[in-house]
Amino acid sequence: MKQITVSNVDKIYNPTKENAFYALKQISFEVDAGEIVILKGVSGSGKSTLLSLIGGLSKPSSGDIIVEGEAIAKLPDRLASRYRHERVGFIFQSFNLLNGLNVYQNVMAPLMLSEWSGSQMEAKIDQALQIANIAHKKGQKVSDLSGGEKQRCAIARALVMNPPIILADEPTANLDTHNSLMFIEILKTFKAMGKTVLIATHDVLFEETDVIDRCIHMKDGAMVV
Ligand SMILES: Nc1ncnc2c1ncn2[C@@H]1O[C@H](COP(=O)(O)OP(=O)(O)OP(=O)(O)O)[C@@H](O)[C@H]1O
Ligand SMILES: [Mg+2]
Repeated sequence: MKQITVSNVDKIYNPTKENAFYALKQISFEVDAGEIVILKGVSGSGKSTLLSLIGGLSKPSSGDIIVEGEAIAKLPDRLASRYRHERVGFIFQSFNLLNGLNVYQNVMAPLMLSEWSGSQMEAKIDQALQIANIAHKKGQKVSDLSGGEKQRCAIARALVMNPPIILADEPTANLDTHNSLMFIEILKTFKAMGKTVLIATHDVLFEETDVIDRCIHMKDGAMVV
């Protein structure tokens, strides 16, 4: 079974209004478990929209998205939020961290909804901090971190629930070359862990690494083949 199957997906913003806009048009593709896939395309081509649908953050206007056998676009809100929480780790361009809290507290945040004991949580947080290479800053307030460190904190947070799927939206857009290369190193770790990873990016650095299995090109909301 494919891990992710996207079939004939359309996304129309403001469908009932004069400014109705087709952000995605008849998108279909499949992703195997453990694949690392890049979504490429100019600004406005629909990359973030597609990631948000696969992440269960919004629903397609038509078509199906099946993840691990589950039609996620048809889930009621409560189950959609559980899907996001348990199955998907998000890494955003702007990191979306809680700036007033420290690194450890940010990584702990997703676990607050779970029923693990204190020591189980601690083990999960420590492991995620290690993998993301940010354990040495765990007591530091996020607002005092460098851009690369903020991103590693966001990666640890994305990993802490041990989701099978990681979605990254322009993960290197706010990073210098050194930190972008570190992100690519972390992708190798994701690969070794068997994570399925989808990355929306313009960054040519990704074209120079063999950790990427496949590239999906998008233009004006459609896939270019
Ligand atoms: N909530 C919304 N309402 C109306 N239009 C939207 C909405 N969100 C996105 N769009 C439009 O849909 C199109 C696709 O947007 P999207 O953010 O998916 O592009 P993108 O490929 O991620 O671009 P970028 O590289 O700039 O991040 C754009 O034309 C955008 O203006
Ligand atoms: Mg985008």
